[in-house]
Amino acid sequence: MGAETLKKPALHFSARLPAPSRFGRSALLIHDRAISRHVPGFRRWARSFPASYAVDGGESLKSLDAFPGHMSRILSLADRLGARDLTIVVAGGGSVGDFGGFVASILKRGVKLVQIPSTWLSAIDSAHGGKTALNVGGMKNQIGTFYAAGEVHLVRELLEGQGEARVRDAMGELAKIALLEGGARWKRFAREPASGTKLLWRWLPPAIEAKYRVVARDPFERSGIRQILNLGHTLGHVLEAHYGLSHGEAVAQGLLFAVEWSRKKGTLAAAGYRESAALLYGKCAFRCRAGELRPLLRTRFLQLARGDKKRTSADRVTFIFLAGPGKPAPREVTLSEFANEARAQGWLGKARG
Ligand SMILES: NC(=O)c1ccc[n+]([C@@H]2O[C@H](COP(=O)([O-])OP(=O)(O)OC[C@H]3O[C@@H](n4cnc5c(N)ncnc54)[C@H](O)[C@@H]3O)[C@@H](O)[C@H]2O)c1
Repeated sequence: MGAETLKKPALHFSARLPAPSRFGRSALLIHDRAISRHVPGFRRWARSFPASYAVDGGESLKSLDAFPGHMSRILSLADRLGARDLTIVVAGGGSVGDFGGFVASILKRGVKLVQIPSTWLSAIDSAHGGKTALNVGGMKNQIGTFYAAGEVHLVRELLEGQGEARVRDAMGELAKIALLEGGARWKRFAREPASGTKLLWRWLPPAIEAKYRVVARDPFERSGIRQILNLGHTLGHVLEAHYGLSHGEAVAQGLLFAVEWSRKKGTLAAAGYRESAALLYGKCAFRCRAGELRPLLRTRFLQLARGDKKRTSADRVTFIFLAGPGKPAPREVTLSEFANEARAQGWLGKARG
């Protein structure tokens, strides 16, 4: 790594998948095998690479336990390519992106990386900013690297192959960006009549640029600025790990939680609350799901919350409150305060563990 910057990749927006030949004769494609079922022509495209490795996307792909097996198969493919200037091309959602990025960052001490996100969530968020990750013992993203892709391809035919559930997933991260940025542009977003795929494709470039603006100010999470991107994730990661909610759905629940807590704490005044709530409950139609899921035990909640990487000490975590759209307000809270608020918002059961 060395240098204090994380180079911004070249962004390519296109209707169709890029020709495999553009990635050279030493390109190894790592792809989610589910894509072939949804995108006509994807299988043929994948077979045109000098080497390819199909995986099942999802959290189990990111498990440290499974990693050595994957790595030895990838190494033998890489060795067959026999080249030193290897390029790893990753086509998949955030899980495949995190996994493939990690592989690229350690293979031969780092090889070229191209990301081709195949879910809206990964196109908006995870393919950008250079974070790679694996899960350890059921805890998310416990190990990883900062490793920038050289190119990111946003491919409309790939993204349009997904169903509505994936569109909903992406709304969590898009709403997060809208809340972090605020201002006239994101007020327009809240009023935009389009929905679904059309809305996402149109708002992809400004959402991506917004993330890069934050990343550029704190590429390696040293100054703390980058942690504002964690808005909605402190509770989101707990819910994702415990209930197996999709990342996007968990973030959506985490945003509702953060906005409600911000109002109660007094960081978010009435006008800011109205605007934020209109975006989340109105435009995005998010609903708090606490009532429909079995409440967590406090001990389980605390165990998962302790796994948060934004934890600042044994019992404190940086929680991203809002002081209004465009005004993130990070504050340290104790895990106990966090659990009490989760209980107040219906996520914890009555029995104290
Ligand atoms: N590195 C980062 O900065 C960052 C940021 C946010 C999230 N993440 C990570 O991203 C992951 C979530 O990403 P995700 O929601 O894309 O999940 P995912 O990769 O698990 O994909 C979700 C599902 O969609 C399927 N899929 C992928 N592409 C498809 C396509 N084109 N058509 C149909 N189905 C398709 C997958 O097989 C999977 O079943 C989490 O592991 C999260 O921790 C990382």
